[in-house]
Amino acid sequence: MFVQSLLPLLSVVLLLSSGASAACTNPRVRKNWHKLTLEEKEDWTRSIACLSQKPGNPNIIPQVRPFNVPPPSPNASAYDDHVYLHMDLYPAVSFKRLLAFLSVHFNGQFLFWHRWYTFQLEEEMRNKCGYKGSMPFWKWDDDAKDVEGSEIFTDVDPITGIGGWGNPDNDWTVEEGALGAKSGFSLNYPIKHSLRRNFSNQPWIPFEGIPFWPDPHAKANETFTPEKIEALIDGFRGDFTGFQAEFEGWDKSHFAVHSVIGGDATGQCPAGSPDWCQQATHWSSNEPMFFLHHSMVDRIFWKWQNKYPENKEAFGGGTLPVMQYFNNEYMVRFATGLSPPMTRRSAMPTLNIYKTRTIQELFHIENDYLCYTYED
Ligand SMILES: *[C@@H]1O[C@H](CO)[C@@H](O)[C@H](O)[C@H]1NC(C)=O
Ligand SMILES: *[C@@H]1O[C@H](CO)[C@@H](O)[C@H](O)[C@H]1NC(C)=O
Ligand SMILES: *[C@@H]1O[C@H](CO)[C@@H](O)[C@H](O)[C@H]1NC(C)=O
Repeated sequence: MFVQSLLPLLSVVLLLSSGASAACTNPRVRKNWHKLTLEEKEDWTRSIACLSQKPGNPNIIPQVRPFNVPPPSPNASAYDDHVYLHMDLYPAVSFKRLLAFLSVHFNGQFLFWHRWYTFQLEEEMRNKCGYKGSMPFWKWDDDAKDVEGSEIFTDVDPITGIGGWGNPDNDWTVEEGALGAKSGFSLNYPIKHSLRRNFSNQPWIPFEGIPFWPDPHAKANETFTPEKIEALIDGFRGDFTGFQAEFEGWDKSHFAVHSVIGGDATGQCPAGSPDWCQQATHWSSNEPMFFLHHSMVDRIFWKWQNKYPENKEAFGGGTLPVMQYFNNEYMVRFATGLSPPMTRRSAMPTLNIYKTRTIQELFHIENDYLCYTYED
């Protein structure tokens, strides 16, 4: 009898030591936005709007604050705080190179930090605004053939539609839809403004002449077709840094999806911005679709992690991004950063807004710290 009562305890110990989770027995399921019910869509848009009405945390301490990031605003909402976090931790350029190790892009923590960042917004929506769901994903490979006409952008229902392209005569402001100016959705960084979108399938033409830019004439949607994404998931066996480089690079799918949306998603400065404002993807999470995009990025990463046994624990990459050298050859060679290496024990920066987690704690999505999964 004594032995019997010990058995369940023993199996828990074994489970934990094998890396599986005892606590995650009922993972939340992330679903395709296009397949949500109207009630589920409404719950999502309502919770995003709700967070943009909730007061922000007055104790945010910026850690990098590059020249083109303002100090925290006293008017910031809980949603703006979340944006600030991403804005502050963008690769430090110019005088702040010494702080580049705090970057959350182009180094070993990119995929884990964004996994965690997206999950934190889901948690905020649930805890502060009574959201019942999980973070949906925008399955953009299905929409690559016609991004501009895709239902996610054409649906401008004021309650459930997150679409609408920007009005070129009004600073590319999205006017209709649940996130449009008419709905009252508004943002505080870099200055107070409404959501903007500027569709372009050749979004990098303005970068012509910038010597480090790969191909200014590339067509964004050719980087995220179903075939490309299938090859990405099936490729790079056991090669974490190769996988990340093929996903995150300037002319690869992760960045192309940001670029094709334009406006806030690519960090265009709102009209009337002060001189320090300079276009960068710092405040790209002003665009709530950022989180449907990053849920998709995370879903692809999850699929890759589970595709072959040698992918499951694969990890690598450095701490220092090379973006600040403005050299495309470096960007390709050191796409996931320079030494010192990132380790699984590396704690990811949070500016005092959320609890800090290590990469190890977020290595898999069905564990004690995350506990969600994806609908196929
Ligand atoms: C905060 O809001 C007040 C009132 O609308 C405005 O006067 C002030 O300029 C805003 N501050 C910032 C930093 O946006
Ligand atoms: C990219 O988008 C254009 C315009 O919508 C479309 O004609 C083209 O077929 C798309 N390319 C791919 C590879 O889907
Ligand atoms: C909108 O996108 C086009 C095409 O990429 C670009 O030329 C233009 O500068 C963008 N508009 C703004 C306000 O940045």
